[in-house]
Amino acid sequence: MIFLALFVFTISFIQQVASHASFFHPSMWGFNVTAQTFPYDNRPVAPLTNYTFDEWWFHGHLDFPPHSTDVFQLPAGGRATTEISCDKGATSFFASSPGGDVRQGDNVCPNQPIAEFHTTGFDDLKGCALAIAYNSNASEVVPEDFTVFSVNQTCVWTRFTDFEVPERMPECPNGMCTCAWFWIHSADSGGEQNYMTSFQCNVTGATSAVPLAKAQVPRRCGADPEFGKELASLSNCTYGAKQPLYWFQAENNTMFEGAHAPPFYTDLYNFVDGAQNDIFEDSYIQIPTPSPVAGFPVLNETVAFGVDVPFASSGNVNASSSTGSVSGSNSSSSDGGLTDLDAGAW
Ligand SMILES: *[C@@H]1O[C@H](CO)[C@@H](O)[C@H](O)[C@H]1NC(C)=O
Ligand SMILES: *[C@@H]1O[C@H](CO)[C@@H](O)[C@H](O)[C@H]1NC(C)=O
Ligand SMILES: *[C@@H]1O[C@H](CO)[C@@H](O)[C@H](O)[C@H]1NC(C)=O
Ligand SMILES: *[C@@H]1O[C@H](CO)[C@@H](O)[C@H](O)[C@H]1NC(C)=O
Ligand SMILES: *[C@@H]1O[C@H](CO)[C@@H](O)[C@H](O)[C@H]1NC(C)=O
Ligand SMILES: *[C@@H]1O[C@H](CO)[C@@H](O)[C@H](O)[C@H]1NC(C)=O
Ligand SMILES: *[C@@H]1O[C@H](CO)[C@@H](O)[C@H](O)[C@H]1NC(C)=O
Ligand SMILES: *[C@@H]1O[C@H](CO)[C@@H](O)[C@H](O)[C@H]1NC(C)=O
Ligand SMILES: *[C@@H]1O[C@H](CO)[C@@H](O)[C@H](O)[C@H]1NC(C)=O
Ligand SMILES: *[C@@H]1O[C@H](CO)[C@@H](O)[C@H](O)[C@H]1NC(C)=O
Repeated sequence: MIFLALFVFTISFIQQVASHASFFHPSMWGFNVTAQTFPYDNRPVAPLTNYTFDEWWFHGHLDFPPHSTDVFQLPAGGRATTEISCDKGATSFFASSPGGDVRQGDNVCPNQPIAEFHTTGFDDLKGCALAIAYNSNASEVVPEDFTVFSVNQTCVWTRFTDFEVPERMPECPNGMCTCAWFWIHSADSGGEQNYMTSFQCNVTGATSAVPLAKAQVPRRCGADPEFGKELASLSNCTYGAKQPLYWFQAENNTMFEGAHAPPFYTDLYNFVDGAQNDIFEDSYIQIPTPSPVAGFPVLNETVAFGVDVPFASSGNVNASSSTGSVSGSNSSSSDGGLTDLDAGAW
């Protein structure tokens, strides 16, 4: 009996402290949404699982817009520093958090075990992404409009998380775009969920006017050893502009993987770490329809600087004669090659 009571206590305690994570900035929709704003806990950090479209899209926060002057600036060719946390009170924006200032340096979830941000450790991180829609009117944006322009594969690990902004990002219409932060954590650490926090953004210092290409649905093409796939199938990847991973909701999913095989913002879905430099209309001369037996895309060498593709960039590599595994390239391991980094003292 005592064991059972202890067990029940432990389970309910875990559920009580469960708080997950979100991007925080005054430019976001839902900046002041608390656990009491909705009939259910719909704080930005609350995970999105099995929700209707209206519930998960913009985290159901479209009626909680930011002030029009609060805009997150994205310097073309530079880095943008975001704050990601389990608690608004642990960010620079603690002043409007119900619990006040609970900041602890770079700690994502002060006073909580790392399982709270859904990882068993640094090697188990699965990345998060920033996506952009070139429309200043958020109520017109639909899921296909978002293009992932930057990935941090070592997210969520530190409160301050940097994202590289592609150098060729064009200006936003009316000086404003619509952005969103997306995250799907490892299957090792808790129930499966999707995260989406949207915000007003703007590209500064643009030097190119070439628009983004129409974003396509990402494909599971990297090495997937947990599921018996030792080698990447590089011709099976989606190349160029890719949509975010819309997964595990009751409606409007584009990804249909099960609970134990989540899609991730890693090489597994051809999301390179850092700036996604191949997302523009002129990035490729040709992109064949992806499949395990397709040929590889042909990059436009004139504008291919900074493009980090896992196939040889000097022309049309023939997939049928190379089995899709490019020698010398090891960038398609599902962990993004991060295993050598020191995880620190966590
Ligand atoms: C999703 O929600 C529906 C309706 O509430 C429910 O019938 C279904 O079991 C849920 N599915 C999952 C996977 O939780
Ligand atoms: C959020 O709350 C703070 C403090 O009450 C207020 O100053 C700010 O205007 C609010 N922001 C939004 C977008 O509602
Ligand atoms: C934004 O789009 C909605 C839906 O199309 C429209 O009703 C609204 O007038 C637009 N707002 C602006 C400022 O253009
Ligand atoms: C990811 O964020 C960390 C922490 O800010 C930073 O050190 C790292 O350089 C970022 N990675 C990329 C690819 O931008
Ligand atoms: C967006 O950036 C452009 C180019 O730097 C600038 O002209 C515009 O004022 C910015 N818009 C906002 C809302 O900051
Ligand atoms: C190719 O991509 C599809 C779509 O993501 C996936 O279902 C399939 O398993 C992949 N096949 C290989 C060999 O990578
Ligand atoms: C969501 O899915 C429904 C049913 O397939 C579809 O009718 C609707 O247009 C979709 N909504 C968006 C915004 O894509
Ligand atoms: C690949 O090589 C085979 C045999 O050399 C050839 O028949 C095929 O057309 C090539 N495919 C592409 C996409 O270049
Ligand atoms: C390559 O990019 C340049 C710069 O945008 C463009 O002028 C050229 O037409 C592109 N080449 C091809 C073959 O698309
Ligand atoms: C490639 O990556 C895998 C997984 O990270 C690693 O075990 C292997 O040693 C790497 N191979 C090379 C040649 O770097």
